[in-house]
Amino acid sequence: MTTARRLLRVSDPNRFGRVAVLMGGSSSERDVSLDSGRNVVDALRRRGVQAEPVDGIPALVTALVEQRFDRVFNILHGQRGGGEDGVVQGLLEAFRVPYTGSDVLGSALSMDKIRTKQVWLALDLPTPRYVRLAPNDDVRAAVRSVGLPVIVKPASEGSSVGVSRVLSEAELPDALALARRYPGELLMEQLIDGDELTVAVLGREALPSIRIVPAGAYYDYHAKYVAETTQYICPGLEGKAEADLRALALRAFEAAGCGGWGRVDVMRDRAGANFLLEVNTSPGMTTHSLVPKAARAAGIEFGELVWRVLETSL
Ligand SMILES: Nc1ncnc2c1ncn2[C@@H]1O[C@H](COP(=O)(O)OP(=O)(O)O)[C@@H](O)[C@H]1O
Ligand SMILES: [Mg+2]
Repeated sequence: MTTARRLLRVSDPNRFGRVAVLMGGSSSERDVSLDSGRNVVDALRRRGVQAEPVDGIPALVTALVEQRFDRVFNILHGQRGGGEDGVVQGLLEAFRVPYTGSDVLGSALSMDKIRTKQVWLALDLPTPRYVRLAPNDDVRAAVRSVGLPVIVKPASEGSSVGVSRVLSEAELPDALALARRYPGELLMEQLIDGDELTVAVLGREALPSIRIVPAGAYYDYHAKYVAETTQYICPGLEGKAEADLRALALRAFEAAGCGGWGRVDVMRDRAGANFLLEVNTSPGMTTHSLVPKAARAAGIEFGELVWRVLETSL
C-alpha cells in the first residue's frame, strides 16, 4: 500500500527523467485542468525538470506506446475516465509508468462518496449520517431516517454540481430532480450546520486547514469558481482543534487508500465536531486553488509544492 512506502526526497531534476504532465482531457473540468497543468509544467521547467504537456488520455496512450516518458504528473480532473477515477491509473500501472497521486483503489473509491463513507464508518471515522437513494426508494422514509435538514447529492460528481440543501419536505422533488440529472447513485446526507473546512495532504503530512467562508449559504459552484467574495482563512482553526482536524483528515485519506497528495473536505458543526465529506484525489493547481494556498501557509511556495508532489511518484 502507498502508506507503507517511505518518501524519497531528491535534489537532482534528472532523477525524474522525462515527465508527462497529463492535463485537459474531455471532462467538464477540462479548462480548470489546462490551467492547473500549465502552472505545473512552468514550475517544473523552472526547476530544470524535463516536463511536457500531454492533453488527454488518447494522447497519453500514444506517448506510452512510444515510450516517450518516464513518469506522469497527473493533473486531469474528472470522473468516468476523466483522469481521477482509477481508469488512467490502471493504464499507467499496465505500462509500469510511475505517476503522482492516488493509485487505482484510492482514486476509484474516492470517486464514490457512498462507498468512501462506508469505509470511514467501518473505521469509526465521523461522516454525516446518510442513506443511499436507489431509483424507486421511498424518499420520504429516507428523509425520516436521516432527519431534516438534509443535503441531496450525486454520489460521483464534483464541483458541487447537483448538490441541494433541503430544509423542508416540499423542497425534496426539486433537489431529487437536480441530482438525478447526473449519472450514478444519489445520497441523502444529514446537513451539518457550521464551518466548511478543507485539508490538503502532501506525502505523509496534512497541511494547514483552510476555512471556507462563502458569502452565500454554502460553497456551491458559483462560490468555487465565479465569486470573488468567498473568504479563505488559513489555518482554519487554532491549537488542538487544528491539530485534531489535520490528524483526522490524514487518517481519512489513508483509510480511503489514497496516497501522494490530495484534499479532504470536512464540515464542522457548531459544537466543534468534525464530519468528513469526501476526498479529492486530483485537486486544482490554479492560482485560485486551495492546495497551493495551504502549502503557502506551511512555507511551501508553488514550485516547491509541485516538486514535492512529483517526488511522491518516486
Ligand atoms: N452533509 C453536508 N452538510 C453541509 N454541507 C454539505 C454537506 N455535504 C455537502 N455540503 C456542501 O456542498 C458542497 C459540495 O459537497 P461535497 O460533498 O464536497 O461534493 P463535491 O465537492 O464533490 O461536489 C460542500 O463543499 C458543502 O458546502
Ligand atoms: Mg467537495
